[in-house]
Amino acid sequence: TALVVAVDGPSGSGKSSVSRAAARALGVAFLDTGAMYRAVTWAALRDGVDLDDRTAVAAHVRATALVVGTDPAAPTVAVAAADGTETDLTEAVRTDEVTASVSAVASVPAVRQDLVLRQRALIDSACAAPLPGRRAGVVAEGRDITTVVAPDADVRILLTADEGVRLARRARQDLGTADEAAVEATRRAVVERDRVDSRTTAFTTAADGVVTVDSTHLDFDGTVAAVLEVVTR
Ligand code: CDP
Repeated sequence: TALVVAVDGPSGSGKSSVSRAAARALGVAFLDTGAMYRAVTWAALRDGVDLDDRTAVAAHVRATALVVGTDPAAPTVAVAAADGTETDLTEAVRTDEVTASVSAVASVPAVRQDLVLRQRALIDSACAAPLPGRRAGVVAEGRDITTVVAPDADVRILLTADEGVRLARRARQDLGTADEAAVEATRRAVVERDRVDSRTTAFTTAADGVVTVDSTHLDFDGTVAAVLEVVTR
């Protein structure tokens, strides 16, 4: 039978890298829902959509075809044009430009309804048609997976870490440096994004039945082990 693991958490909690490693270890698919919000944001920016016009944003997202690869060894996201041509965005969705605009797009209720349905379809297909030689199921991560996308998942986890630790990890991940000014700029951008996001999703407190894994004092491998322990518990 299929295994669905839902993981939520704030920026810098390590949820993407930890969820991906857990998916590999479990032999199931990996779904990065943040990459989907980022990809539709990339497309809206490319097409010059006014991000303050929520109706226009929702219509543009609805018309944007995403192709999501859920192999944890190489997760991908792409947009498909009407003629079927795909533009791979796996790297492009990580730029500062996309990061700065994604919260505005993700705060539009119609956008969320649209992407939540697509995420559920991806979860269903990972359960119905596993990758060759793999187990049916998925680790899906984001900010509303435990509460909205897959509230009846087999395992639901909130990955947290103290703010200072999260911001330091994020700065290191994004910049690979300890340059003071750059770290401070990243810190401010993350705090601001968390502030805007927290009006949309309650990703910093565990809903009923959700297990909290605090990675403040854990390294990467330790955090993956803690998540796997919750799954096999
Ligand atoms: O970079 P970080 O890991 O913090 O975020 P992400 O998982 O790549 O998600 C990027 C953005 O997408 C978030 O800041 C949210 O605005 C939005 N998002 C969301 O609203 N709901 C989700 N399930 C996942 C992401």
